[in-house]
Amino acid sequence: MSFDVAAEAYDRFMGRFSRPLAVAFADWVPVAQGARVLDVGCGPGALLAALASHTSPDQLAGIDPSESFLAAARARFPWADLRHGSAEAIPFDDDDFDAALAQLVVHFMTDAAAGVAEMVRVTRPGGTVAACVWDFAGGRAPQSTFWSALGSVSPGVENESRRTGSSEGDITGLLRQSGCSDVQEAELSVAVDFASFEEWWEPYTLGVAPAGQQLARLADADRVRVRARSAELLPSGPFTITATAWAARGIVAD
Ligand SMILES: C[S@@+](CC[C@H](N)C(=O)[O-])C[C@H]1O[C@@H](n2cnc3c(N)ncnc32)[C@H](O)[C@@H]1O
Repeated sequence: MSFDVAAEAYDRFMGRFSRPLAVAFADWVPVAQGARVLDVGCGPGALLAALASHTSPDQLAGIDPSESFLAAARARFPWADLRHGSAEAIPFDDDDFDAALAQLVVHFMTDAAAGVAEMVRVTRPGGTVAACVWDFAGGRAPQSTFWSALGSVSPGVENESRRTGSSEGDITGLLRQSGCSDVQEAELSVAVDFASFEEWWEPYTLGVAPAGQQLARLADADRVRVRARSAELLPSGPFTITATAWAARGIVAD
């Protein structure tokens, strides 16, 4: 899926969740000081920022198919080797990295098995491959309330819950299938505060990701209904959204 939107819109929509998730994910993998690390689907750089406190910034690399996100990441992290590309054909050599990570990307890959196999290819034997995706299937993604509201207006709408990576065991299965050993899975949770319903709703109107794109496709009257249903499901005043991702890591075989 393409992300042809401004990095600033992404930051307001998902960056609020992906930044704290990146801190938890980089801690959990874990990434050793001095390790050379690839961030697959780096976007504007939430995970790169977290990784920079684990290893030397000049040991970091990233790829992303979105030109706007790549431009933002390059401006923010000029010391990193950031290249245009997709997981299914990673533009780096075999065994180039000590670790390859993908945060909130597996469910957007056109071929998740090929993407994870590529992450394994560019990671040295004994290195780590890891990925995480929100628990859409379990209704614990940041967007789950939105998808519930949209589903009541447009029953049967594609709500990300059947995408590969969005269910318990999906990423673990991909890592095992690609030959990784010592595969482990965990739940990573983050809590994000919102001052008002309006602060929560506004990022959905920016057209970012499947949620924003589905909303933009609706007729005006249906958009109003989705907003009204969301407002019924959430408090009006300050509230906290807790979201949980499935994370899995494995060791590349010799
Ligand atoms: C939800 S964003 C996550 C960005 C960043 N990793 C983060 O946690 O904020 C999904 C990212 O995956 C990228 N993407 C989509 N399809 C991809 C693919 N096949 N291979 C690599 N990245 C992909 C998008 O361009 C976007 O930057």
